[in-house]
Amino acid sequence: MSRAESAPVLTIDGPSGAGKGTVSARVALELGWNVLDSGAVYRSVAHAALERGVQVDDEARLIELCAELDLGFSPGHDGVQVCLDGRDLGDALRSEEVGVMSSRVAAISSVRHALLELQRSFRRPPGLVADGRDMGTVVFEDAPVKVFLDASVRERARRRHQQLKEKGESVTFDRLFRDLEARDRRDRERSVAPTLPAADAVIVDSTRMSVDDVVARILSLVRQSLP
Ligand code: C5P
Repeated sequence: MSRAESAPVLTIDGPSGAGKGTVSARVALELGWNVLDSGAVYRSVAHAALERGVQVDDEARLIELCAELDLGFSPGHDGVQVCLDGRDLGDALRSEEVGVMSSRVAAISSVRHALLELQRSFRRPPGLVADGRDMGTVVFEDAPVKVFLDASVRERARRRHQQLKEKGESVTFDRLFRDLEARDRRDRERSVAPTLPAADAVIVDSTRMSVDDVVARILSLVRQSLP
């Protein structure tokens, strides 16, 4: 096993809006570890497809887009910063349009397969915090610490509504609630890599927890599990 493959990994999986991005970045900063935002990997493919007019049924072109991805991640106090082709693309990747397209692209098994090695290449010493849907079940199945971060749909919609209001975007709570429910269902019921906790994951329900509490709980799980 190479030094990179033996680096420890903490996987944080869970549905949209459970706070994985913020929590992963904070935990990575505390531990001094690298970070992988795998949602941003799928969002980058979706962004490139929308920009270049590639349709979801054009698997061959989607796979070409996967091979061209040049992505970098760094943890910050507000979340994970994403660089695509050397540019900070954070907000462009977070639009609802890119979100919806990314969940359609993510349901294609050849696309998921094409992105496996890229995601695994972020595993480097001293360690990696990887957040997404299938980090503990597929991509880093051998991770020593796995967390499934959940929260009720209502609470996740409330948080997202608050974020969008702060950015001056007007979307109704009901619309967000319905969109989240639909996206959850698609991500949970799809045949490839559905969003489900790994058998050895610890489930953390953040509905009534502050970000600080969630970070503290996860850090204690990491410290208990690692030498
Ligand atoms: O987490 P985020 O909302 O950024 O992810 C965007 C979409 O990418 C999700 O709706 C999901 O369909 C997909 N995804 C995935 N597997 C991952 C991470 C994200 O299928 N590991």
